[in-house]
Amino acid sequence: MLHFHLTDDEGWRLEIKSLPKLTEVGAWRIDRTGTFNSFGAPEPNEPKTYGGFYTHEDIKELVQYASERFVNIIPEIDVPGHSLAAVAAYPELSCTPGADKYQPRYGQPIMDWSHGAPPIALLDNTLCPANEKIYGFMDKVLTEVAQLFPFEYIHLGGDEAPHNFWEKNAQVQALMKREGLKTIPQVQAYFEKRVETIVKAKGKKMMGWDEVLEGGVSPSTAIMSWRGEKAGIEASQKGHYVVMSPTTFAYIDYMQGDVSVESPVYAKLLLNQSYKFNPLPKGANAKYILGGQANLWTEQVYTMRYAEYMTWPRGFAIAESLWSSEEKRTGMAL
Ligand code: ACM
Repeated sequence: MLHFHLTDDEGWRLEIKSLPKLTEVGAWRIDRTGTFNSFGAPEPNEPKTYGGFYTHEDIKELVQYASERFVNIIPEIDVPGHSLAAVAAYPELSCTPGADKYQPRYGQPIMDWSHGAPPIALLDNTLCPANEKIYGFMDKVLTEVAQLFPFEYIHLGGDEAPHNFWEKNAQVQALMKREGLKTIPQVQAYFEKRVETIVKAKGKKMMGWDEVLEGGVSPSTAIMSWRGEKAGIEASQKGHYVVMSPTTFAYIDYMQGDVSVESPVYAKLLLNQSYKFNPLPKGANAKYILGGQANLWTEQVYTMRYAEYMTWPRGFAIAESLWSSEEKRTGMAL
């Protein structure tokens, strides 16, 4: 499997012919060098020279190349959070005044994590669930995604959607009243259910990060468990299909060695820890565990050489831990 994370705050990387600004605007950002997440405000008219995107022809070629090697590709459109590039392209998808001034993220801080999860957003990087326009937008996007990718699932993200803008928003409050929604996670669940209806109408199944469980998602949505294993274990007990991808074993964007020799990232994952990844932890209902996955997030991975450096050897260890039984692995010296 290749999980292809095609959209995020930093860029929209897939051509959508019916929404050309997604790549005309959303695929390009300011190019800064220095420490990621520390950059200051943009200069007036600072050029957006970093970017690019996959055309439909590129995707067809890639799907064919993968299929010849027995690899399936699951595309991800990460909504309603992580959507700054989409909002920069189509500010009318926001409920927040001033979204027309937004641009794709170039490494400036946009979330305050000092209070834990969910983060406090410094700008509104969400598609607004109370804005009816976003459902027409999602329909257009998913029409093309479903045509391009033959795999049965489409991943719709759902992670790290901040709540602070929604809590204050009159349109969101009106939606809560109209639909009888009591909490902000229920607002997100309303969004996820409507999006799943669109996904199903395109003949596909929906997958989302574990946050989508919080407001009560439909049982037919598959779950990718990233904030540890607990959400995945519980989801499997409830009959959701699950892919295990916990930060504790499978986040290969984390540093693999001492900070004195690594490019600094906020967390560490050593090779021997990734080799202990067990996609069937105690309590999980094995019938619903589809497998496991390693994630290489690349906002701080600037070259292909560096992507290779981060991927191996932890990728080998994780592949083996997913393919081999636990007994076979525990015999190995770690
Ligand atoms: C994630 O790492 N935010 C899924």
